Amino acid sequence: MNDSIQQIINSYDPHAPLSQASTIPSSWYTDEDLFEVETQTVFSNSWQFAARVDQLINPGNYVTSEIGGEPVVIVRGNDGKLRAFFNVCRHHAAAVMTEPAGCAPQLRCPYHGWTYSLAGELKGTPDFNDVCNFDRANNGLVPVEMAAWENWVLVRLSREQHNSAREPAVVESELGKQIESLNLGALHWFERRRYELKCNWKVFVDNYLDGGYHVPHLHKGLDSVLDYSNYTIENGERFCLQSSPMVATSEGEIAAVRSGQRALYYWLYPNFMINYYEGMLDTNLVRPLAIDRTEVIFDFYFTDVSASARERNLASVTVGDRIQQEDLDICESVQRGLNSRAYQAGRLSVRREAGEHLFHRLLHADLARYARLRRA
Ligand code: FES
Ligand SMILES: [Fe+2]
Repeated sequence: MNDSIQQIINSYDPHAPLSQASTIPSSWYTDEDLFEVETQTVFSNSWQFAARVDQLINPGNYVTSEIGGEPVVIVRGNDGKLRAFFNVCRHHAAAVMTEPAGCAPQLRCPYHGWTYSLAGELKGTPDFNDVCNFDRANNGLVPVEMAAWENWVLVRLSREQHNSAREPAVVESELGKQIESLNLGALHWFERRRYELKCNWKVFVDNYLDGGYHVPHLHKGLDSVLDYSNYTIENGERFCLQSSPMVATSEGEIAAVRSGQRALYYWLYPNFMINYYEGMLDTNLVRPLAIDRTEVIFDFYFTDVSASARERNLASVTVGDRIQQEDLDICESVQRGLNSRAYQAGRLSVRREAGEHLFHRLLHADLARYARLRRA
């Protein structure tokens, strides 16, 4: 580990109380080496969204994704079990499954045609008869730790010591209980939207976690349906719940598609958000592509996804899309500012920005643990 990374990590003080705290310094959003360390720690050691359960209903259904820089495939086996593997052929390392999702009777590598069962066992190896000491049983796809939780499949790449016990299976956590009470099984997936932002992934997360601070300024439409002054922010161990009562009497385009008693905005460290309104849900998955490039994937779910509800659901997605566009522009503006010599770090609002404070402290804990291990 080079000294400059160590210095960058040390330049944040995780012990300052919120009233005295600053954000993580701008170098955390602009330094390529730090990005690399995050990939190997934050994104390898945490549970990461890999697929939706509704994509994996039948045997042979599979979903591929890239997590912490690693190709991963999730498959439903003939025995009905879900499994996750590194999507890396044991022959010469090509990706075995190349479509984002699909259904296949077996997993077949496109390079030299090796095949694996849906349970990951190596089955077919063309033209391999004279190869000596080749242990087929030891050349199946390499499994990845996996958990099906609510409407999603989560995976965790690394089970290394420095991560052990610190992250309980989300299912058993306080967060798990809260999400269970929302009865998300009654919501059905409707549509996915993807956005690419020219900013570091943490800029998007910071923006999400500012406790509604930006809502009255940036999202004038959304502001009319949220009771901003009663916005609450509650930190869990590794999640934050931001919540706002809805204004029952509000009118207009947004009010027509966002209703109910409260809007609940759950953030799960480090990069997954669950946004719940009455009768609808959207999730945001924040995927770092490079130090200054991020993909955000929105999945929209509704109670009623029948043809008769289609128009209303689309109107709701369009509202989400517009809000997202406003966030996207400001995130790119922030990234430009983070590159400026005029900016090093900023202070946090005690009333609004406790979620960001938690995010920065958790991030620091992950990076500092990694730095300690590398020195040991
Ligand atoms: S790399 Fe997969 S069969 Fe050769
Ligand atoms: Fe926003």
